[in-house]
Amino acid sequence: MKSHDTADREILFEIRSDVERLFNRHMEAPRLWYPHEQIAWSEGEDFQESPWSPEQYVTSDGVRSAIYVNLLTEDNLPYYTSTILEFAPKDHPIREWSLQWTAEENRHAMVMRDWVHISRCIDPVLLEDGRRIQMTSGEYPVPDSFSDLISYVAFQERATQVAHRNTASHLPKEDRVGRNVLGLVAGDETKHYMFYRDLVAAALLIDPSTIVQSLERQIVRFAMPGTGIPRFTRHAVRIAREGIYGLPQFLQDVVEPILENWRVSTLEGLNAEAEAARERLFASLDVLRATVERASQRASGVTGALA
Ligand SMILES: [Fe+2]
Ligand SMILES: [Fe+2]
Repeated sequence: MKSHDTADREILFEIRSDVERLFNRHMEAPRLWYPHEQIAWSEGEDFQESPWSPEQYVTSDGVRSAIYVNLLTEDNLPYYTSTILEFAPKDHPIREWSLQWTAEENRHAMVMRDWVHISRCIDPVLLEDGRRIQMTSGEYPVPDSFSDLISYVAFQERATQVAHRNTASHLPKEDRVGRNVLGLVAGDETKHYMFYRDLVAAALLIDPSTIVQSLERQIVRFAMPGTGIPRFTRHAVRIAREGIYGLPQFLQDVVEPILENWRVSTLEGLNAEAEAARERLFASLDVLRATVERASQRASGVTGALA
């Protein structure tokens, strides 16, 4: 079996033109939106004169948890960037892509926080305390290799897109700004997902055995970034109960369509380790499906973590 290092070096070398192709495709349809134009500034109020209280924005605890977790997840960007740059050599186009990705991701927390502060949808003190605690905890996903990284990020971008999109659809009808802001963020995540999805597809043609083993590791261990957020599990349960993001969404909106897109079940030419990994992967999905099925039969909401 090739070491992570050797396999990574070979994949990075061979995938160069695919990175260039996907990066060019991304840049040909730029999403140039301006955070400052999305916000209804005149609706803002001074917190000294009018302190925050929950009735200023009526919604459920599940929706508040989703806004809180989604925004804090975006806040942790410096750590994701430092991780992806570790796997992005200076003379490789993946570095240029990673910088572009960071520039686009950076506006998500900016625009969301402006909306949160103006609309008063969540407690700004809780939010800022959460941000400080999360960012000083230094807890964030760290993959072992380039192939693990791109596999993880493909699932992660899709998961983030689903979480933002579903949160938007749970906002009160009158919060047009919030719906628009989350829609713009979800739109960026969609394009990021498409880049990584197609990058993994290209990597599967180069070294299917290494990538399939990465996919198995990433799905079986998959955790949303955000586990460093105070009371993460409690928020994750609320978000799942609200039907915004939980095991059913992870399975049906993230993992199943992506694996189908890559035709993982019918891939040929795998070595013995990769065949075994693929079997474990599909066995773990069967377990997940049974869990989701049982939960929906009980119709009492999903109690699993935010996948
Ligand atoms: Fe984002
Ligand atoms: Fe993202």
